[in-house]
Amino acid sequence: MPLSRIVLCITAFTVSQAFAATLDASKRDTFDFGWKFSRFGKMPDGSMLPEPGRSISSAKADSEQPENPAGSAIDGDMSSRWCATDANPGHYLIVDMGKPVRADKLKIAWEKKDNHLFKIEGSSDGKKWVTIADKTQGTNQSEKDSVDLNGSPRYLKLTVEGNGGGNWASVREMTILGKDGNPIRPLSPKTSSPDDPKSISFNDSKWRSLDLPHDWGIEGPYRMDLPNETGKLPWEGIGWYRKTINIPADAKGNKFYLDFDGVMSRPKIYVNGELAGEWKYGYASFRVDITPFLKFGQKNTIAVRVDNPPDSSRWYPGGGISRHVWLTESNPVHIENWGVFVRTPEITKEAAKVEVDTSILNTTNKAVNPTVIEEILAGDKVVAKKSTTGTSIAPGEKGNVSGKLTVTSPVLWDMENPALYKLRTIVLVDGEKVDEKTTTFGIRKVEWKTDGFYLNGKRIQLKGVCQHSDLGPLGTAVHTKGYERQIEKLKSIGVNSIRTSHNPPPPEFLDLCDKQGILVIDELFDMWKLAKKGQDYHNYYPEWHEKDLVNFVHRDRNHPSVIIWSTGNEVPEQGNKSHHSISQTLTDLFHREDPTRLVTCGCNDAGAARNGFGDTFDVYGYNYKPWAYNDFSKDRPTQPFYASETSSTVSSRGEYYFPAVWDKSKGFYEFQVSSYDLYSTGWGNRPDVEFAAQEDAPNSAGEYVWTGFDYLGEPTPYNLDGTNALNFKDPAERAKAMEELKKLGNRAPSRSSYFGIFDLCGFRKDRAFIYQAHWLPEKPVAHILPHWNWSERVGEITPVHVYTSGDEAELFLNGKSLGVRKKGKEDNNRFRLVWEEVKYQPGELKVITKKNGKVWAQDIVKTTSKPTALTVTPEHKEIIGDGRDLSYVTIAVCDDKGQLVPRSNNKLSFKVSGPADIVGICNGDATDFTTMSNPYKKTVMTLPAYNGLAQVILRSKRGAKGKVTLQVISPGLKGGATTVNVKAANSEQMKK
Ligand code: GAL
Repeated sequence: MPLSRIVLCITAFTVSQAFAATLDASKRDTFDFGWKFSRFGKMPDGSMLPEPGRSISSAKADSEQPENPAGSAIDGDMSSRWCATDANPGHYLIVDMGKPVRADKLKIAWEKKDNHLFKIEGSSDGKKWVTIADKTQGTNQSEKDSVDLNGSPRYLKLTVEGNGGGNWASVREMTILGKDGNPIRPLSPKTSSPDDPKSISFNDSKWRSLDLPHDWGIEGPYRMDLPNETGKLPWEGIGWYRKTINIPADAKGNKFYLDFDGVMSRPKIYVNGELAGEWKYGYASFRVDITPFLKFGQKNTIAVRVDNPPDSSRWYPGGGISRHVWLTESNPVHIENWGVFVRTPEITKEAAKVEVDTSILNTTNKAVNPTVIEEILAGDKVVAKKSTTGTSIAPGEKGNVSGKLTVTSPVLWDMENPALYKLRTIVLVDGEKVDEKTTTFGIRKVEWKTDGFYLNGKRIQLKGVCQHSDLGPLGTAVHTKGYERQIEKLKSIGVNSIRTSHNPPPPEFLDLCDKQGILVIDELFDMWKLAKKGQDYHNYYPEWHEKDLVNFVHRDRNHPSVIIWSTGNEVPEQGNKSHHSISQTLTDLFHREDPTRLVTCGCNDAGAARNGFGDTFDVYGYNYKPWAYNDFSKDRPTQPFYASETSSTVSSRGEYYFPAVWDKSKGFYEFQVSSYDLYSTGWGNRPDVEFAAQEDAPNSAGEYVWTGFDYLGEPTPYNLDGTNALNFKDPAERAKAMEELKKLGNRAPSRSSYFGIFDLCGFRKDRAFIYQAHWLPEKPVAHILPHWNWSERVGEITPVHVYTSGDEAELFLNGKSLGVRKKGKEDNNRFRLVWEEVKYQPGELKVITKKNGKVWAQDIVKTTSKPTALTVTPEHKEIIGDGRDLSYVTIAVCDDKGQLVPRSNNKLSFKVSGPADIVGICNGDATDFTTMSNPYKKTVMTLPAYNGLAQVILRSKRGAKGKVTLQVISPGLKGGATTVNVKAANSEQMKK
């Protein structure tokens, strides 16, 4: 049953009952702790484990090659297949769906084009067969076939007939589609209740105990046979979570909700064995009303089934209840979830008008006439107050109460001073308080004009990055500190905006952006009705997009940081006029739900600005079209635009390959990418190209670089094993790479992206400095690359590039000037200064930069000696003992002078003691297969350094305090250690 139906299914209480357990404000508590968990379906090692009470091995064949078994034809994975042991005619495959299933179509994807003559039969008992389709005559060279089923068989049999022999029975996938066009997964539910994880009596004592948020994929292991695109991690499969709670008898009459911030994916929520709600989109926040299923004064069992089918994401999506869960208890008359909407339609220096809508839900069986008191607070001080009595709300209905307030001399929210106000909403019924809620908001004016973006009347150039929502070594499990650190690092290079590509972020992320003055493009989807992957959200789009959009807007609309809604990214609908109405519908829905913000869409289709697609939303987002900006202003003079995605430069921290050619398709070696920042995807560019395009198109509101941080999956140029060859234009390089690939069984080892300005640990790559120099021109920046440890290159040409916010620079090698370079209009001097002919000699490379003729900034790079010691430096010396706070610790491999030794990959061991656990380790190497997470809380972990650096993430133990010690050792090096203080959490901190 769709959740919206359940939310509206109101339990009828009498009013006297309703007020028996008086609750004068909704209580919201963490529901993250004390779960039991187990995995089923596709297991981390690739084997299949049936869910309890269900059989999963529902395909069998009369003949199968051991490496291509029958089950591979129904596993949803196009890269695996069923194949008979010979090419003889008559081999068959039987699929058992467990029970008769209303099926509409059967799709068959053959291994390859061949003469496939076949027959499909159906049966209800597996004995008596009825022919459904007979295609055993003539020829059939198609790679895919589709058969109408239009019935309810339990068993389907595919028989492959020969036509003179030679055509093998080899099937990649048989997909059975239901009436709704969605694939039916051939599982057979056997509902004898003690066996079923949703039932109260199910014995979960052997299951693992864990706390949320939880991402089962990041636990690994990495597997060479898994797709690079999704990080080579085992995120697919089924997971069950169970937890029991006592609901006191005297709470009867109150409403109970479970609020999920996001579950990856397709969660079904059972309460005491009954389905209470479900959702599909793994990035969506949603509420489940559990009241009708609860037993008051007793123990209640909550069970959540999570299902990640293969081929459902084009990056690493994680798996499980990866965002927070909350238990909310409310009076039967209460403010609806996300039911407060604050707007500031008129702002002057003297006063800001504040409009508030409050949606109140009356779940009693009597009409109520609520009064809403609104108070606006600046700090602790009430600066505006208003009381409004609404109209009557019928039983089981919701009603809106609108209020208008004025804040005099408002302090505006902006990037330098992100001033926040609080709105306290109090709801009274018959003079009794029934609910109270505090909403954070800001007073600011956002405008998109044809000449750019304006905040509070001032034009701001958007210096943005796109960010996926994983946190590298922590996977997709939400850790607020991880996002806080990302934002701080991005701000340090001048980033003022983030695009939440390509899905709703966790709610904490927007709270942080509000606090840190970051402007957000809040994006909803990566695909609509047309698929990007066979089993992605497009299957659910028709039924679910509106529910997802409404929840998304209601959740995020009060954040001052959100400056625009984005309906999507590079949707295939762009190119086809008959699909443009989908875009218009989404834009209209956004406007209906939030009339205060404009709507955008990220377009990569070169024609989308001219074929009418651009008319279907307000602000045009260009993906990778720096050459098109000026034409846009000519063609569409009334539409604002910006670059929603730029650059896609790729690099590996600390790797440099020679010669450093200026050809974006080169620089790829040994599954790493040279860090001269000259190399990108075919559709992308080095940062300088976009800087120039932005400067030369002053009407562009700004750019969003792909990406701020490296992320899991999508390791382009080593993304899809089969297409890696396409990245190499030079035949000799291609041959070398293909040779490497062959040695590895034609599987590139890469598992995380090379796009980040920061690596997966959050360490700066060289690129961070070109952005910092360009985006923060007032800050002295000088940065030399590459490093200067090239003992094998003495006398060889080793180009030196310098990123600086100055306008000229002089480079010195061992005290001798190599000349002055001045900024100009050329490729090699507009945004970087280049010395192409430097012949390597060990020693010291120094750059002194000037701005307006005065010394501005300098940088020195020295040849180091051998590694001798380790330094261990925490970014956070003190953390809170709430079981959530993190300290990121950097480990550096140094020489005897304490200098970081580039190209040192020493093996490191980490040992922790005290009130924190190691929760993640990382080195930023996209080809490292060491599992980064630590679900079983081992106290010792090991990892090689990558180009001199590694990282350990410590997480406080819940309710603990005291000193944590982290020791790091490495054979042959002087070890290092550090301490971090864990401070006891207060009761407020423990509630979060
Ligand atoms: C874009 C896409 C992103 C990412 C990027 C890599 O076209 O929108 O999600 O795939 O390419 O360059």
